[in-house]
Amino acid sequence: MTMNPTAGGATSFPEKFLWGAATSAYQIEGSPLADGAGMNIWHRFSHTPGRVKGGDTGDLACDHYRRFAEDVEWMARLGLDSYRFSLAWARILPEGLGRVNAKGIDFYSRLVDQLLTRGIEPCVTLFHWDLPVALDDRGGWLNPDIAHWFADYAEVCFRALGDRVPMWATLNEPWVVVDGGYLYGVNAPGHRNLYEAPIAAHHLMRAHGAAVQRYRGIGKQKIGLVVNLEPKDAASESAEDLAATTRADVYMNQQYLDPPMLGRAPDGMREIYGDAWVEFPAEDFALIRQPIDFLGINYYTRSIMKHDDATWPMRAAKVRTEGPGHMQTGWEVHAESLTRALCWVKERYGDIPLYITENGGAFDDPSPTADGRIDDAQRVSYYREHLLATLEAIRRGVDVRGYFAWSLLDNFEWASGYAITFGLLHVDPATQARTMKASAEYYREVIRTNGAVLADGSGAVFGS
Ligand code: FCB
Repeated sequence: MTMNPTAGGATSFPEKFLWGAATSAYQIEGSPLADGAGMNIWHRFSHTPGRVKGGDTGDLACDHYRRFAEDVEWMARLGLDSYRFSLAWARILPEGLGRVNAKGIDFYSRLVDQLLTRGIEPCVTLFHWDLPVALDDRGGWLNPDIAHWFADYAEVCFRALGDRVPMWATLNEPWVVVDGGYLYGVNAPGHRNLYEAPIAAHHLMRAHGAAVQRYRGIGKQKIGLVVNLEPKDAASESAEDLAATTRADVYMNQQYLDPPMLGRAPDGMREIYGDAWVEFPAEDFALIRQPIDFLGINYYTRSIMKHDDATWPMRAAKVRTEGPGHMQTGWEVHAESLTRALCWVKERYGDIPLYITENGGAFDDPSPTADGRIDDAQRVSYYREHLLATLEAIRRGVDVRGYFAWSLLDNFEWASGYAITFGLLHVDPATQARTMKASAEYYREVIRTNGAVLADGSGAVFGS
C-alpha cells in the first residue's frame, strides 16, 4: 500500500459516494412503550436514579416516533442519499422473541416508505444497544441462546423490510456494549464484572455471524458490521507505555474485527483479562467469520495511552488532553487518525468496502443570532477536516464508499443525557422545533458538490 498522498488515486470523492446521516432508535424516537412495544434496557436504565446525567430519559427524546415524516423532509432538504437508523428490537418483538408486534413493524415500514418517496436509501442497524428487558432478564448477551434469538429477530426484519432496505448492519459498536454495559457499568445494563465481559463479547460476535448467515438465505443486497475504531498512540517510547498502547489497541480495535474478519481472537486477550479470559471453540469462530459485504467504521477521536497498574483490567490509561481542539466529551479532535484508522483496516483485513457509519463532533452550540442562525463553527470545521481525512484515505487506495454524519439531530446521548449535542439540526427541547445549524448548511453544500466545497478554506477552525 502506498503511503504517498500524491501518488495517483482519487482527488475527489467517487461518483457514487453515499452521503448520509445517522441516528439510533432510543436516542431519537421517544414513546418507547407506545403501540405495544416491550420495555428495553435503556428505558429501565434511564429510569433508575443516578444512571443518566440529570435524570434524563428517552421518553420524549426528539419525538421522532411521531414526527418521522417531518424529519424525512429535513433529510431531503439536506440532500441525503442515505439515512442510517436502528430498529428497536422490543417494538418488533416485545418479549424479544416469539410474538411479533405488527404495530412495531408498521412504524418502520412507514419510515422506510417515506424515505423511499424522497429518494433516500434506508440503511438499517438491527441492534444499537436497546436490548429488550425480557431478554436481559434471561441473561442478555451472557446467554449463549442470544445468537439464535438475534438471528430470529433479524429474520423477522429481513422479511418485513428487506424488499425495500438495501443495506443492513447487524450490531452497532459491540465494544461499547461490552465495555460500557458489562465491564464498567456506565451503560445499560450497568454491570461491572470482569468475568462477564469476554462472554458477552463472544455472544455478540456469534449473534452477528448467525444474523449474517440468516440474511444469505433471504436477502440479496448488503449486510455488514459496525465497529468503532480509535487509533492508540503511546505517551512515550518507554517499553511499558508501548506495551500498554498495544493492549489498548487489541482491546478496542482488534477484539471485534479479528473474529469476523480473521476467524480468531487477537493475540493478547489473556494478557488483558487474565483468568477471566475464555478460549472459545473453533466452531464458534467458523460461525462468526461469515463473509460480509462491508464494514461500517465509526470514528470520533484517537487516544494517547500510558502504562497504569491501577487501571483495571488493561493496565493502560488514557492521557487526558485539553484545549480548544476538544469536544464536550473531552475527546481530542484529530482528523489525521481517521485516515490512519481507515488505512489500518485495509492493511490488517484486506480490501473490503468501507463506510464511515458515524463521525461528528459534540460542541457547545452558540445561542442563535438575531436572525435565528446557529453558527456552530467548530462542528463545521470538524466535518471539513474529517472529510478531507476521508479523501486522503481514498487517495491512499482505501475503498471508502460512503459517509454518515453523526448525527442528524441533537439527541439523547446515553449516560450523558441531553447535555451533549452532536446534531446537524438543533432540537428545541420545549417545542421540538428543528433548526438547521451552520454545519447542516455546510454539509448540504458538501453533498451538493460531492465534496468540491472542501477545497476552499471556508469552514476551517481547527487549522487545516
Ligand atoms: C457512538 C454511538 C452513538 C453516539 C455516538 C456519539 O459511540 O454509536 O450512538 O452515542 O457515539
